[in-house]
Amino acid sequence: MKAEEVRSVKEEAIASIKSAGTVAELEEIRVSYLGKKGKITSALKELGMLPAEERPVVGALVNEVRQEIEQALASRREELGKSELKAKFEAERVDITLPGRKPNVGRKHLLTQVTDEIIDIFIGLGYRVAEGPEIELDYYNFEALNTPPDHPARSTTDTFYVRKAGDRPASDDALLRTHTSPVQIRVMEAAKPPIYVIVPGRVYRRDAIDPTHSPVFHQVEGLAVDEKITLGDLKGTLEVFAKAMFGEDREVRLRPHFFPFTEPSAEVDVSCFVCNRRGCRVCGNGWIEILGAGMVDPNVLAQVGYDPETVSGFAFGMGVERIAMLKYGISDMRLFFENDMRFLRQF
Ligand code: PHE
Repeated sequence: MKAEEVRSVKEEAIASIKSAGTVAELEEIRVSYLGKKGKITSALKELGMLPAEERPVVGALVNEVRQEIEQALASRREELGKSELKAKFEAERVDITLPGRKPNVGRKHLLTQVTDEIIDIFIGLGYRVAEGPEIELDYYNFEALNTPPDHPARSTTDTFYVRKAGDRPASDDALLRTHTSPVQIRVMEAAKPPIYVIVPGRVYRRDAIDPTHSPVFHQVEGLAVDEKITLGDLKGTLEVFAKAMFGEDREVRLRPHFFPFTEPSAEVDVSCFVCNRRGCRVCGNGWIEILGAGMVDPNVLAQVGYDPETVSGFAFGMGVERIAMLKYGISDMRLFFENDMRFLRQF
């Protein structure tokens, strides 16, 4: 190859390198000039065929041209690499301004929230939380709570029996507990006074479901046993609770009632937080019943081995559904159990 030709091969190579659009194309160009059978490689091989005086000149030129081509390849490769990468980034671009998909975060069911709120109020008064089994023995649910065998609550029309031996209730019959009061007995059997416990839990009764009844519902029980506990302590404690739960201006009143395991017993009302006792659709006469309570019956204290002469106590039990319905203005208990998120999400 003459010097002239070498130069024109170089021009041609440089031009095609410049116009190469991809790294792959560039590689083809490299092979066609610098590969085994490439034009520049051949030129080197053919040097021997030139007249002796031309060889050093053309040889030097070919080497120079090879280097120039190599350089041109390298710099074009870098350029193309960058723009190919850029194109790749462009194609895979993520629009970070798009709003993300919010994960569905769970929440506590309103009944759990209200239960927690009740518990917190009593924790603040120094109570601790106790729990007991939902499948309970007749003994704890009724017998130890001073509830005689012929009491209507013990009949199969009012209670779900899991295992029932005979026609008459027996203390080892198993049943779904009808209230959280059996946990009073379990706590007292396991410890000595002073006792201050709050007992949340699920309870069961043979009721048909309607706006104010459900065969499964929730209660929170309270029990305080100590020296010199009085009815005044019960009323004061419930007043603190009512104010914390329903507002600072609330008052409570006790109406005489009957429970087999408390003496005296009372139904406890809170002054209406909607009308402030003037009388309205929610309360009727200015007062709203919120729970049952009383002084622990001496028979119950004796049953667990306490001395009713030296210790006394009070107990109360409230329905969580009822408290939640009052506080949040909910008119139908079934809403709690239908799991309609449109309802549950509001709280
Ligand atoms: N266990 C009673 C009920 O379910 C409520 C109650 C609890 C009453 C404690 C007095 C004392 O109706």
